[in-house]
Amino acid sequence: MSAEAILEVAGLHACYGTSHVLHGVDLAVARGEVVSLMGRNGMGKTTTLRTIFGLLRPRAGTVRIHGREATGAPPHKVSRDGLAMVPEGRGIFPNLTVRENLVMAARPGRDGGTAWTLDRVLALFPRLAERQRNMGCQLSGGEQQMLAIGRALMTNPDLLILDEATEGLAPLIRREIWEILVRLKAAGVAALIVDKDISALAAVADRCVVLAKGCVVYAGTPAALAADREVMLRHLGV
Ligand SMILES: Nc1ncnc2c1ncn2[C@@H]1O[C@H](COP(=O)(O)OP(=O)(O)OP(=O)(O)O)[C@@H](O)[C@H]1O
Ligand SMILES: [Mg+2]
Repeated sequence: MSAEAILEVAGLHACYGTSHVLHGVDLAVARGEVVSLMGRNGMGKTTTLRTIFGLLRPRAGTVRIHGREATGAPPHKVSRDGLAMVPEGRGIFPNLTVRENLVMAARPGRDGGTAWTLDRVLALFPRLAERQRNMGCQLSGGEQQMLAIGRALMTNPDLLILDEATEGLAPLIRREIWEILVRLKAAGVAALIVDKDISALAAVADRCVVLAKGCVVYAGTPAALAADREVMLRHLGV
């Protein structure tokens, strides 16, 4: 792959015990690029993200970050290498304030970058700015997701990974999250995004990768994917 690649995954296999879930997944994300990882329920999207992030050890295959071998690296190492994960369920600290949740994540990026400060994150999310002194447990689901994204940005990442970016959120909040993701893309933050909203993903993504039973069955632009009725119907159910 090109020197511009942040993440390169090749031939990734992963298992839960004796259950073999990923069967040779290939995908890459270049600098500034937004890639959506799609597929029906249980096809291996979360498992792929967890394996990239070092939460699950791959059985075979490689993960390279900025061209360097990172297969099986632990999450703190993956994070230092410039990846930030917003997991399903968000994982914010309920007994810390919004501000504390953000400040405790603060760290320069891999190249020493400090573009994402507390002020910049609060400017991106005015709702969080208003609720800075509220505890994590007092936030709505949408505010929690904003906080989870804000906390990931505080690590000044090169690549933001989001699992179920808008799941369980009200339509208005969903729209706000998508608008934020578009703004982050414009600011040059690369992303790998999983979500059920195929049209919203198509609007923000440069490329789509579709999984079925732990294999990549399609990779291409959103426009080419939309034109492929077979893949849309068979693997995305639309
Ligand atoms: N902790 C686990 N232990 C055993 N099997 C698991 C575990 N987590 C997921 N699986 C199985 O692995 C397969 C892939 O699951 P995964 O969660 O990666 O799918 P997904 O594409 O993220 O699905 P969804 O759209 O429902 O989030 C499924 O068959 C699932 O049942
Ligand atoms: Mg999942």
